[in-house]
Amino acid sequence: MLRSVFLAAAASSKLERLVESAPVSKGIVRRFVAGSGIDDALSATRALADDGLGISLDYLGEDTLTAEQALATKEQYVTLLSRLSGAGLTPAAEVSVKLSALGQKVDDRMAYDYAQQICVAASAAGTTVTLDMEDHTTTDSTLEILAELRKDHPSTGAVLQAYLRRTEGDCRELANAGSRVRLCKGAYAEPESVAYQSALDVDKSYVRCLNILMSGEGYPMVATHDPRLIAIAEDRARWFDRDPSEYEFQMLYGVRPEEQARLAGNGHSVRVYVPFGDQWYGYLMRRLAERPANLAFFGRALASRK
Ligand code: FDA
Repeated sequence: MLRSVFLAAAASSKLERLVESAPVSKGIVRRFVAGSGIDDALSATRALADDGLGISLDYLGEDTLTAEQALATKEQYVTLLSRLSGAGLTPAAEVSVKLSALGQKVDDRMAYDYAQQICVAASAAGTTVTLDMEDHTTTDSTLEILAELRKDHPSTGAVLQAYLRRTEGDCRELANAGSRVRLCKGAYAEPESVAYQSALDVDKSYVRCLNILMSGEGYPMVATHDPRLIAIAEDRARWFDRDPSEYEFQMLYGVRPEEQARLAGNGHSVRVYVPFGDQWYGYLMRRLAERPANLAFFGRALASRK
């Protein structure tokens, strides 16, 4: 119930204007977002890299409706990649890109062109790009653009969402050599016709997808904070004889940092997804939807208005 309220709020532009302008933000936003600008992103990246963690940076923004905004987002990524390389932070850091931030919903050719330019900048910086996955209406277009990008940039990563009924099939398609696939549960409000609705069904789908990816030839990126799924992934990696360099765990900035450190301390590759930028509203609402305890944190921040 709470989850659906927050996911509906994530899509409300009126509420977005209200919340983004409120001083509430600082405490709760800073827990999940590294800051507004590239300098903030670089500081967070440096700290994580010093702790032996990998990083995937996300310049916040989604559902871009103008060509100017799409161009500005592309430019931010190109500048970010050059700054990361200049600071010696690649290949530890890569970037995560939402195609809707590059105008996918207006003109998917434009989104492809900009994604291609970001991939070129990433190659020049000695690192990789992963395409985030958004709501199910974009899945086909995103996977088509991924296939195009991978012709010139085979290391471009995909994200697959275990809550979608189609995802086992997509895992089979993508479990091939050189293919980087981030498996997550899925963070959007989706109808029963396309997505499992119960937590148990999503978890069971996650395990089936994990089995396909771990037994395949690609590079699985296990994106979850769920202790049971992490233990199952460790088990499957042992079962399929995967070296720690042949898969990785991924978690979100500010979520279970002690678990990130524990896994890295045990010799696993761990990458932290680090969002930065001013357009944090949709991202924050999805994080609140994931965990009721975060709601109390948000409520206290609103009450104190610090
Ligand atoms: P679940 O939500 O069941 O949480 C398990 C446990 O983890 C909780 O009990 C709690 O202890 C902890 N936890 C989880 N979320 C928390 C939070 N927000 N705050 C505090 N504790 C929390 N989704 C998507 O649709 N498209 C995408 O491209 C991506 N990309 C992505 C990248 C990375 C690196 C990660 C880790 C996740 C994503 N996601 C995503 C989000 C994903 O789909 C999912 O919504 C969240 O990861 C939460 O699901 P968990 O697997 O962590 O399980």
